[in-house]
Amino acid sequence: MDQGTWKGIKDTQKQRIILILIMTGVAMVMTFTAISLLYQTAYEEEKSRLVEVAQSQARLMEAVARFDMQYSHNYPEGTEAATLSQFIEAHKKFEGFGTTGEFLLARKKDQTIEFILSHRHSDLRIPQSLPLDSPLGLPMHRALEGQSGTMVGPDYRNVKVLAAYEPIKILNLGLVAKIDLEEIRKPFYKAGFITLAIACAVILVGILLFWRFTNPMVEEITASRGQLRNLAQRIQTIREEEKGRISRAVHDELGQQLTAIQLELNYLEEELETGMESQQKKESFQCIGTMVDNTIQAVQRISTELRPQILDVFGLGEAILWQTNEYQKRTGIHFECSGVDDKVPLSKEKAITMFRVFQETLTNIFRHAKANLVIIHLYRDNGNTILKVRDNGIGISSEKINSAKSIGLLGIRERLLVWGGTVHIESKPGSGTTVIAKIPAGDL
Ligand SMILES: Nc1ncnc2c1ncn2[C@@H]1O[C@H](COP(=O)(O)OP(=O)(O)OP(=O)(O)O)[C@@H](O)[C@H]1O
Ligand SMILES: [Mg+2]
Repeated sequence: MDQGTWKGIKDTQKQRIILILIMTGVAMVMTFTAISLLYQTAYEEEKSRLVEVAQSQARLMEAVARFDMQYSHNYPEGTEAATLSQFIEAHKKFEGFGTTGEFLLARKKDQTIEFILSHRHSDLRIPQSLPLDSPLGLPMHRALEGQSGTMVGPDYRNVKVLAAYEPIKILNLGLVAKIDLEEIRKPFYKAGFITLAIACAVILVGILLFWRFTNPMVEEITASRGQLRNLAQRIQTIREEEKGRISRAVHDELGQQLTAIQLELNYLEEELETGMESQQKKESFQCIGTMVDNTIQAVQRISTELRPQILDVFGLGEAILWQTNEYQKRTGIHFECSGVDDKVPLSKEKAITMFRVFQETLTNIFRHAKANLVIIHLYRDNGNTILKVRDNGIGISSEKINSAKSIGLLGIRERLLVWGGTVHIESKPGSGTTVIAKIPAGDL
């Protein structure tokens, strides 16, 4: 693996990890946002429930107290005691709310806060009195100062509670409805923990699936990046080689011929000055004429090699037959071309592509196949132009056919792909090779 490919893989892995981290982050933020929103809603609901309880109880007590003031004069300890005794009695049957929800009544007495109702948290029936300057029982402090509202703060046990407080002015009492903050939070801690565990499991499965499904994609992208790089390098090399070949051909063939013509002309000029026999003149002109003919032929050969005129004028079929003929003369390989349809319709650009594919295939046969027979078919099938070249050589292994290093074959594939075409190579080592190139004919 070359350095470029390795770097490409590392970059892609890095991007995938960043993507996974972003997705995980988003999932976590969503989970926490959802849970904290639910908690907020539950907290607000609990708050209004406490306010409702505190206010309704306070108003009820005030109404009962007013009633007792009017009608319970004959109660031995007085009307206030009558109201309280009714409440204490009623409270005994009140279960409270939740596990820690509680309802408190207290009054100020000799620099202390004296609780009146029994409660659920302690073994003591009634909470111990608190000094007025104690930092505990904060909601009750406020109620006894005549304030009304809600708060989070320490109760008489020094436990953080959410409390609603109300004064009962008519009886100089304070009333508190409260619940431990921990009790409101607990289900959300639990839900949060469960959701987090599920989210982690889902994220983990997601990461595994994501990794698995994107792996072939990444491999493909990396491979095709490598192929592209190789192809670009090869195109560059081919261009340089072509330039070298053209310049050699022009230099060797045309240069030599023109120099020879120039020498002959110089000779003719000198001889004309000194007087020349007409037979000599004729021979000299004939010699120049032959050399000019050779030069013209050389120009034609070079230009035909660059781009066969026959392809533009007579089409792909004829160009294939011409090229085959040239090869047969040079290599001694026998070509069977009866299946070449010289009238297949194909646009000029597509015909050039197919012709270059054909040339690359022939070069490969000549260089690698060790074949002595090549059968060529060119025909139209179902809107496609198909070129089939079969040799009886040594064959290619499927690893080589698919290797990123087989740049010639890759070039064939890429050339055809430009037109939506394909190449299919059938071969088994030892049993020859068939190259089938297909191009959709489309609009001409
Ligand atoms: N017709 C064939 N018969 C046997 N082997 C072949 C044939 N065509 C190609 N091969 C094998 O497949 C390999 C890949 O071919 P490809 O054209 O991609 O590369 P190349 O001809 O070796 O080099 P390049 O074409 O880049 O100059 C060749 O090296 C050769 O071993
Ligand atoms: Mg090749």
